[in-house]
Amino acid sequence: MNVATHHLRCTECAAVITKDDVSSNFRCPQCNGLYEVVYAWSDVKHPPNAPDDPASRLPNPSALRWLWQERRSSSLAVDQSGVWRFRDLLPILDDLEKVVTLREGNTPLYDLPRCAKVAGIDWLLAKHQGMNPTGSFKDTGMTAALSVAAQRGFEWVACASTGNTSAAMAAYAARAGLRSIVFIPEGKIAWGKLSQAMDYGALTIQLKTDFDGCVKILGELVQKFPIYLLNSVNPYRLEGQKTPAFEMVEQMDWQVPEHIVVPGGNLANSAALGKGFSEMYQLGLISRLPKISIIQAEGANPLYRWFIDSNRVMKPVTADTRATAIRIGNPASWRKAAAVIDELGGWCEQVSEQEIALAKAEIGAEGVGCEPASAVTLAGLKKLVALGKITPEERVVLILTGHTLKDSQYTIDYHRGELFTPAETAQLTPAQLAQHAALRKPPIVLQADSTLVLRTLESHMNQPQPA
Ligand code: F0G
Repeated sequence: MNVATHHLRCTECAAVITKDDVSSNFRCPQCNGLYEVVYAWSDVKHPPNAPDDPASRLPNPSALRWLWQERRSSSLAVDQSGVWRFRDLLPILDDLEKVVTLREGNTPLYDLPRCAKVAGIDWLLAKHQGMNPTGSFKDTGMTAALSVAAQRGFEWVACASTGNTSAAMAAYAARAGLRSIVFIPEGKIAWGKLSQAMDYGALTIQLKTDFDGCVKILGELVQKFPIYLLNSVNPYRLEGQKTPAFEMVEQMDWQVPEHIVVPGGNLANSAALGKGFSEMYQLGLISRLPKISIIQAEGANPLYRWFIDSNRVMKPVTADTRATAIRIGNPASWRKAAAVIDELGGWCEQVSEQEIALAKAEIGAEGVGCEPASAVTLAGLKKLVALGKITPEERVVLILTGHTLKDSQYTIDYHRGELFTPAETAQLTPAQLAQHAALRKPPIVLQADSTLVLRTLESHMNQPQPA
C-alpha cells in the first residue's frame, strides 16, 4: 500500500486543488492553465532551516539512492519498472498493487563517439527512450497516468496523438483491461505507430485534420463523456516522464551532465525532465542543474519563434515536417517548457528537414538508430556548438525519444535517395551532398550469380570506411 499524498497546482495562477477536483480536460477553471503535481515536500527548501520545519518530510537523498538501486534486484514488477522504482518521488497512487506496468524505463545510456566528433564536442551520450516496451518515451508517462485512470475506475481512456502516445496508451490500456480511443491525423503518422494502436486493440479514429485539430475534437468529447484524457495535459503523464532524469544521473554515478538536448513537439517532455532535475536538486540528490535545450523542426517551430521574438509572444503555426511525431503547431505545454528554458538556462533551436535526415543517418551509423523526431537533437546540438552555446568539453546527453523501427519508411526513403524533393536536394552544398552520399546504404539488387556477387562485394570492400 502506498497512500497518495499529492495535490494539483495550476502552473499559471498557482491555484491548488485536490486530486478529485480536477476537471476532465485538466485545465484550471480560473485561467485555463495546466496543472502540475505537487507533494508535501515540493515547496520545502533544502537544506531545512529549522528542526521543526516540515522539511522533516523531505525524502533523504542517500536512503533514496540506496533504495532505488536495491529495487533493481527485486522480482516484483513494481520494482523492476524504471518508473515505479522511483515511486518515492511520485506518490500518486492509492494502491501500488494496481500499477499498470510493462517494465518500462531502465533504458540504456549510450556513448556516441562519432556523433560527438561531427558535432564538435569531446563526449556525447544518448539516453535511448526508444528502448521502452512500445518503442518510445511515452511509456514512462503512460504507466503513471493510466494507473491513475485504472484506480479511479474509468472504463474508457483516450488521446489525440502523432502516433507514439496512442501506441503507448493502447498497450497500457490493454494490460489494464480498459478500452481506449485513439484520435490521429489521417495520413500524417508513421505506419509502425498506427499498427501498434490496432495490434493493442484500440478503437482507432483517423480524423481528416492535423494533430492540433484532433486535440480540439477530443477536448470537446471529454467534457461530454466519462472518458479519461491521456494527452500530456494530464499532469500524471509528466510524473512518469520525469523519471528518466533520475535514471540518467544514476547511470552517470550521480554526476550531472552540463546539457540535455530534447526534441520539442507538444512540449511536455522537456517540462517533465526539467521537473525531474529540479526535484533532485531540491532534495539534494544532485548539487547543480543541467541546462535543457529544446530543438524543433523548422516546419513546426512555434517555440523557436517564441524564443527569438523579443516580445516573447507564442503564435501557433500550421505545422509540417517529415518528423511526424513533432508535427505540432499549437503546443499545449509551451509555458511549462518555456519556464524550463528560462529557469535552467537552455536554448531553443530549429533544424531543417535535410539536417534532421543527416543526423538520423549519423545516429543510425553508430548502431543506435532512432526515429526522425529524435534526430533533431543531434542536428540541434551541431548548431548550438557552432553558435558557441555548448563548448567542446561540456557533457551532453541527447534524449532519443523513439525507436528507429517506428518509422522505417522514412529510413528506406532516405537510403534509396527518395526522401528529399528536387528543390530540397538543390539547397544542399557539394560538401553536404557528399556527407549524405557517404551515409546512404541503399539495398543492392543482384542476380543470384556468385561471380557477380563477388565482384560487387570487391568493389565495395575497396572503398574506405568513413572515419
Ligand atoms: N519525440 C517523439 C518520438 C514523439 O513521439 C514526441 C511526441 C516528441 C518527441 C515530442 O515530445 O510532445 O512532449 O514535446 N509525440 C506525441 C504523440 C505528441 O502523440 O505521440 P513532446
